[in-house]
Amino acid sequence: MRITPSGQTLGARIEGIDLQNPLSSAEIREILVALGQHGVLCFPKQTLDVDAFAAFGSCFGGLEINVANMFHEPEHPEVMILSNIKKDGKQIGLGDAGQGWHTDMSYSETIALTTILHAQKVPVVNGAPLGNTEFRNMHAAYDGLPADVKARIEGRTATHDFNKFWEMMRQRPGNTRPPLTEAQRKRKPPVSHPIAYTHPVTGKKVLYCTIGYVTHIDGMPAAESEALLDILYREQDRDQYLYAHRWTEGDVLMWDDIGTTHNAVADYGDHPRYMRRVQVLADRDYPAMVR
Ligand code: SIN
Repeated sequence: MRITPSGQTLGARIEGIDLQNPLSSAEIREILVALGQHGVLCFPKQTLDVDAFAAFGSCFGGLEINVANMFHEPEHPEVMILSNIKKDGKQIGLGDAGQGWHTDMSYSETIALTTILHAQKVPVVNGAPLGNTEFRNMHAAYDGLPADVKARIEGRTATHDFNKFWEMMRQRPGNTRPPLTEAQRKRKPPVSHPIAYTHPVTGKKVLYCTIGYVTHIDGMPAAESEALLDILYREQDRDQYLYAHRWTEGDVLMWDDIGTTHNAVADYGDHPRYMRRVQVLADRDYPAMVR
């Protein structure tokens, strides 16, 4: 395995490994360490099938079956399809996934360690790929907070709600997402997590608080919570924490859902895009795995 850092705030390419094959525990450890260090890992030119893709994700934790799972690969409810492609007039995938800054599964009691996408079809216009996925570095954003703000968030939790992002998407013109059902809302009720979150791989604090899912800071008057959230969002929005992945078909992209936030850029209209996705739960003893 060759790991080449991007030289930017996030990102590395990992070559010399075929993800169709099972990983050794040494390879799993090496990838986990790289994930903590670089936040976004690209394994280019991968041709793995759906079984191998799910097996790769399972090396790092259990695979979530999304609560609103409208589109997935046959026989694989844990492998979602993100796509704007229509067949016989019907969508074959979720066409608007992740279009806003967030981190996956912060709305869940067991949060996500990583999300992994495998690019099957990338929109290309005039030779340039469209539909970048943008990331921000939350290790660096936490480090960048002034000391008094760090003191104010220490020991504090924020509430994350799946329905917030869902409703935000539904408000967009032409959006076809149905409202979440009562049963879906019950399966993912709002949950609280520390804002200064200790990353299970790096052991360092990250800013775990995104505008996509956070509704408020717990135990704080609403106006104070809003003002403090505003400070946290402004810090994480800085350009110095930004990294954009430009897709190539065959890329397997694995990102750290605890140490980064992300946003899917919807600039490709009807040009076809097709991604497979797994969301991997942070349900293992990572400190022991990387020791
Ligand atoms: C996501 O937020 O999981 C989707 C990202 C993308 O499709 O670029």
